[in-house]
This record gives sequence, C-alpha cells and structure tokens, in this order.
Amino acid sequence: MKSVGLSALGRRTMAPPISWLMETALAQPDVISLAAGFTDHESLPVAEALEAFSRILGAKKSGRAALQYGTTAGNVKLRQLSAARVRSLDRATREEAYSAANLILTSGSQQMLYMLTEALCDPGDIVLVEDPSYFVYLGILQSHGIGARGIPMQPDGLDLVHLEAVLERVRKDGSLPRVKLLYSVSYYQNPSGITTGFEKKQGALDLLRYYERKAGHPIYLVEDAAYRELRFEGADVKSALAVPGRTSRVIYAGTYSKPFATGARVGFGLLPQPVRDVVLRIKGNHDFGSPSLLQHLLATAIESGAYTRHLAQLRECYRRKAKVMLASMREAFPSSEWLLPRGGLYFWARLPQKLASGMKSKLFQAALANRVLYVPGELCYANDPIRPKPNHEMRLSFGGETEKNIRHGIERLGEALGSMG
Ligand SMILES: Cc1ncc(COP(=O)(O)O)c(C=O)c1O
Repeated sequence: MKSVGLSALGRRTMAPPISWLMETALAQPDVISLAAGFTDHESLPVAEALEAFSRILGAKKSGRAALQYGTTAGNVKLRQLSAARVRSLDRATREEAYSAANLILTSGSQQMLYMLTEALCDPGDIVLVEDPSYFVYLGILQSHGIGARGIPMQPDGLDLVHLEAVLERVRKDGSLPRVKLLYSVSYYQNPSGITTGFEKKQGALDLLRYYERKAGHPIYLVEDAAYRELRFEGADVKSALAVPGRTSRVIYAGTYSKPFATGARVGFGLLPQPVRDVVLRIKGNHDFGSPSLLQHLLATAIESGAYTRHLAQLRECYRRKAKVMLASMREAFPSSEWLLPRGGLYFWARLPQKLASGMKSKLFQAALANRVLYVPGELCYANDPIRPKPNHEMRLSFGGETEKNIRHGIERLGEALGSMG
C-alpha cells in the first residue's frame, strides 16, 4: 500500500471479511444470509426493553444516573448480577473467581477480547487458538502482528494430545516464551458448534501450568462463553473458572448480545489480578466506560425477571430453527457431514475434500449467484505456519433468517452444490 503515514498496526490491519458479508446481506435483501451471525430478528426483546427503559427513565434518580457517565468498570449492580449469574451457572461455592470486583463491563465482549489481547500480547507473540476459531478474533491477532498455532477440535472440544504436541514443539524451537494465551470458544463454538467438556478445560489448564513454568510467565486460558446461554439441548457445562486452583489463569468473557438485546452490545470479562487492573487502564484510554444507559437496561431486565423469561423463549426459537436447518440439510447436502449443535447459532458443514468453499471458489460464486451466503470455512482458520488451511468447510447460521428462509437458503445452497458436478 502507498504510504499514507500509517502505523505498523494500521498497515497490517486488513478489512475484516465479516464486514463484507454483513454489508452484502444488508444491501441485497433478496440474498438469504446464512453467513452473518445475526440473532433472531422477530424475537428481539422490544417490549421488554421498552418496559425497562420506562422504569429507568420514569424516575428522575435512575433516569439521571442512566444518562450520566459511569465508571470505567461499569454499573455496580450489573457487575454484581453478571458475576452472580456466572457463579450460579457454574454451581460454584467458592467466591473469589466470581467476585464483582474482578468483573469489567465492556462494549460487547468483542471489546474485552481486544483489550485483553492488547494487555497480554506484543507483536511477534503467539496465541493458541482452536482450529477452526472465531474469525473476528483471528482478525485481532493478525492486526496486532501476533502469530497463531491451531489446535484441532474433537467432538468434545480441544484435542489435548495435539495441544501438548504444539506446546512441546514451540518449547523445542525456543518460541515458548512468546506463547501468552490459549483462546477457546468453549460453548457451541463459533463456528463449529462444538462444546468443550469440563475435563478438557481441566486438562488444558494442566498443560498450560506445566508449560508456563518453562515459559517463565503465566499462560492464560481465555474462555469466550459468548453462546453459553443459548443452550437448547443437554446440560450446561461448568466454565474453566470452576477448575480448582486455576482461577488465577482463567479469563472469562461473556456477553448479553446473544441472549438479550443484541444491539445494546453489553459484554463483560471476569479477570484475575493483575490482568484486571491492566485491562481497566486500557479501557480507561479506550472510552473510560461503556454506555450507562445500556447497562441500566440490562440490570433492570435481569432484576425484573424479563431477561430469564426472554431467554427461555429464545432457546426454544433456536431449537426449532436448528431442527429446520437440519431437516433441510439432510435433503439438500446428502454428501456433506455436520455436527448437530446443542446450542448457539451454527452448523459447520464439511463438504467432500475436493470441493473448495473459499470466497474465490466456484461454489461460493455459484451460491452468491443463487442469492445465498455462507461463511467459507477457511476464514475460520488462523494463519498457522505449520499447517495448510482446510478449504472445504462452511459455517451456516440459523440465527438471523426466518424458518422459511432457512429452508430456501439451504435449498439454494444445495442447488449450488449440485451444480458443481
Ligand atoms: C465467539 C464470539 N465471541 C465474541 C463475540 C462478540 O460479541 P459481542 O461483542 O456482541 O459481545 C461474538 C460475536 O459474534 C462471537 O461469535
């Protein structure tokens, strides 16, 4: 690029592919987007938000507090409610890991992911990520010049044998001191739909403990629990915060974007000291606090019970939509494989090896010509020098589109696949 006086970070930062996918979906209403991670549109909690806002703004005291700047860490009530919620999901009796003092409210959990990566990593450092992983997080790494090593996934989460092999390899080649964290989207993963079992979290933390001694500094497990609340089958799995003796190495990122008012973008992180203080300082520089009004909205909706009621309906809605997508896929892509998600918003389909699905592939072009979008699987793989990126997979979201459009979208995709011969 011709020099326009940009910083190294500015020069490195590429346009996130998600922006193009979302813009295409919004600009061309006849395109069915099974790509963007939008949440269900029809069930967004408009009435619940109106009720909460009228309570907040109906009284001068709470109205003024909501319309004033708040603290950098965020609204105390919502911090307490959020910490208590994670604690109750974990059925935890121990207090320290779930203290509201360790919780910072952010503008989406995306901001938390960004800040904690800035707090822990320098250019040239290495982050261990799942193969595949959340591609917007991979963008943060790329933009900061942070390297990545991919750890394959099994049906119950990270492949620990591979994790150990990767750690051993970086130890042998001398780059272990550059490994700072392991990033895991542990519930109904974006993009694969996989949930990581509690034993796997324990096993990963044990390995990190062993290798951090050799690295000479802590190696954190960043648990991104964005989809935890969108469970529609099976039991909840405890978070890594519940692993005895390891809470000082676990950073937990949560969000209200998926379970409640998506556009409010209220997220949070539970962080051990001293990372919490450093992230707070960084947030002080970013924006010295996320919007008060939106934090009041969430606190009021949780306290009134509206949040829990809404969540129960939402889970049912996604359970139905996942079923519709499954039935349509069975008909339209008989030669593909996929895992049945038990929550979240995504199916991950694996096509026959020879069928490339990338943005420049014939399949992607045929799908677009047939007015349907998917996320090419290769976007979800980090730039790992050790392995090539698989390019015959796709992420399909049942979040934003109606049941009818999910059916049509999968049919259109099936036609595009069929035209590949
Ligand atoms: C895995 C994962 N983490 C974090 C986020 C960020 O969401 P938000 O910033 O709205 O909390 C997303 C959004 O799609 C996601 O899929």
